[in-house]
Amino acid sequence: MDKKIPRHVSIIMDGNGRWAQERGKERVYGHANGVESVRACVEAAAEEGVEYLSLFAFSEENWNRPESEVSTLMGLMVKSIANEAEALMKQGVRVMFLGNRSRLSDPVNSAIDGLMEASKDNKTLTLIIFISYSGKWDILEAAKKLAREIAADPSKLDSLDDMDIASFDKYFVTAGIPDPDFMIRTSGEMRISNYMLWQLAYTEILSVPTLWPDFRKPEFRAALAEYAKRDRRYGKVK
Ligand code: IPE
Ligand code: IPE
Ligand code: MG
Repeated sequence: MDKKIPRHVSIIMDGNGRWAQERGKERVYGHANGVESVRACVEAAAEEGVEYLSLFAFSEENWNRPESEVSTLMGLMVKSIANEAEALMKQGVRVMFLGNRSRLSDPVNSAIDGLMEASKDNKTLTLIIFISYSGKWDILEAAKKLAREIAADPSKLDSLDDMDIASFDKYFVTAGIPDPDFMIRTSGEMRISNYMLWQLAYTEILSVPTLWPDFRKPEFRAALAEYAKRDRRYGKVK
């Protein structure tokens, strides 16, 4: 039997702080080591033939962490983009950053724009980094976009009743990206933490106890093996 490979794998990368604490270090030490796991999972995803890998890097709620942690995380993002860009380009990875860009600083926005632009024609794997993102924000923005469109052209109101799920999909930041087939959360938590609420409607979910800095290629492959055992029924009878 063919191995069932999910087309889109998404990960809530959690547990960096606890990983550092276990070693008697500051939380930021965990974030820095988490970057290694990102590299490992990108490589593993490309090797396994996954088309889209999305990673929850920073939520809208994470802005409420101490200022020092927020600025370290933002600095780490800029540094990692600079450090990883060449390898990502070599591997043919297209990188996208999705979220509330208006809350990000100029240096973060320009690093993001640079990598998105440079990698936009790459074809091996699409890596999506969710930054300053929340699912409720995404839904609200989608509704606002639609409302603005109708306000600008009231004749569009006539076709509103015919609007279906697929056409509403286009108003989300994930427009054009297939919904995740498989979502992994590390560190054992059993919650979505305001991640892609709309897009995860029929996603297979796996929570693993491994803390994010320890989640490397073998753990990624083991998770894919779990996915291969799942029976996706979509509400039907088999
Ligand atoms: C995940 O690790 C990284 C981010 C949310 C930015 P945490 O920082 O949440 O680590 P824990 O959950 O406190 O261990
Ligand atoms: C979710 O992790 C967000 C990211 C991984 C970016 P959190 O650690 O922020 O979530 P909670 O606080 O456990 O819900
Ligand atoms: Mg956490």
